[in-house]
Amino acid sequence: MNVHIIGVGSALPVRAVSNEELAKTIDTTDEWIFSHTGINSRRIVGADESTSTLAIAAAHAALDKAGVKAEEIGIVIVATSTPDYSAFPATACLVQHAIGAEHAGAFDVVAACTGFIYAVEAARGLMQNDPRPALVIGADAMSRITDWKDRNTCVLFGDGAGAVILQASERPGGIRRGVLHADGGGARSLYREGGCRSPHEHATAPHHLQMHGRQVFNFAVKAFEDVIRELVAKEGLHLDDIRWIIPHQANVRIIEAASRRIGIPLERFFVNIGALANTSAATIPLALDQMLAEGRVQQGDRLVLAGFGAGLTWGGLLVEWA
Ligand code: ACO
Repeated sequence: MNVHIIGVGSALPVRAVSNEELAKTIDTTDEWIFSHTGINSRRIVGADESTSTLAIAAAHAALDKAGVKAEEIGIVIVATSTPDYSAFPATACLVQHAIGAEHAGAFDVVAACTGFIYAVEAARGLMQNDPRPALVIGADAMSRITDWKDRNTCVLFGDGAGAVILQASERPGGIRRGVLHADGGGARSLYREGGCRSPHEHATAPHHLQMHGRQVFNFAVKAFEDVIRELVAKEGLHLDDIRWIIPHQANVRIIEAASRRIGIPLERFFVNIGALANTSAATIPLALDQMLAEGRVQQGDRLVLAGFGAGLTWGGLLVEWA
């Protein structure tokens, strides 16, 4: 049985915040942000938006494109680090109810920016037992856990959601292989307090994302290289057989460094971080949706989707578009 991506949808908050606007409230400049990250702007949720509202909108768009009814969905998985509720219920349950996926199970996956890759692999595994279509969403409202006074982190992130419908089929192609990795030894490179390890008296304090930028940068460059090489080797392919790398969009300099290290020209890496910044679990499906809308992906193209993030986690998918 093969698993194909048959519909992709995405959703973004209404409000765009430029580097210039950020420079009015923190000690930074458009020049510093762009030259260090490739980011010009990001979308930020408003008072009536959240991870679930973005995820629901992306899910509707993906269902429409796939021509699948919500009642046909067997499982809803939302990859997110910014769920609507701090632990439960899962954001996936909110999505499942809102779209009317009344015969589906639903759960969240926490693998930070690698979450979408993990969620697709979870869905693909579940579909071996229940081949009904799966709805997989990467959605985050990073602005809600960002310290807007910390120039080291707040300039990097944005909000958004991307969704795919997966369908089991005998048709050749589709998702050929996935690889998942983790190293909890790097847990403190990128983390957020506020879980049950925090002292109870601090439970209501705001807990912002904490990051050691340089450590994450170095890890990320190697993670991209390792994932791409692993997928290509396991499929018995060459790097030249891959038409597009769709990398997690955290920093254009990470993508450039990975391109140099692995020897794949930058033109074969899709980059859209300029307008959207790092939307965490959403970057990869958002990128895929934009690429399809722009007609960049052709029948038969081989794509590598590669992610890295907190955990530490990293992983990838090799997809033959068919
Ligand atoms: N504006 C102006 N100056 C700044 C800003 C800013 N927004 N941010 C940092 N600086 C300053 C620092 O204070 C530092 O000043 P100092 O030398 O006086 O101390 C200087 O710029 C250089 O800082 P570096 O940390 O060396 O800058 P670097 O070139 O490493 O870029 C960055 C920092 C952009 C954070 C980079 O390390 C990076 O992208 N790391 C990876 C982050 C990442 O990918 N995170 C997401 C992971 S995915 C997930 O799971 C959520």
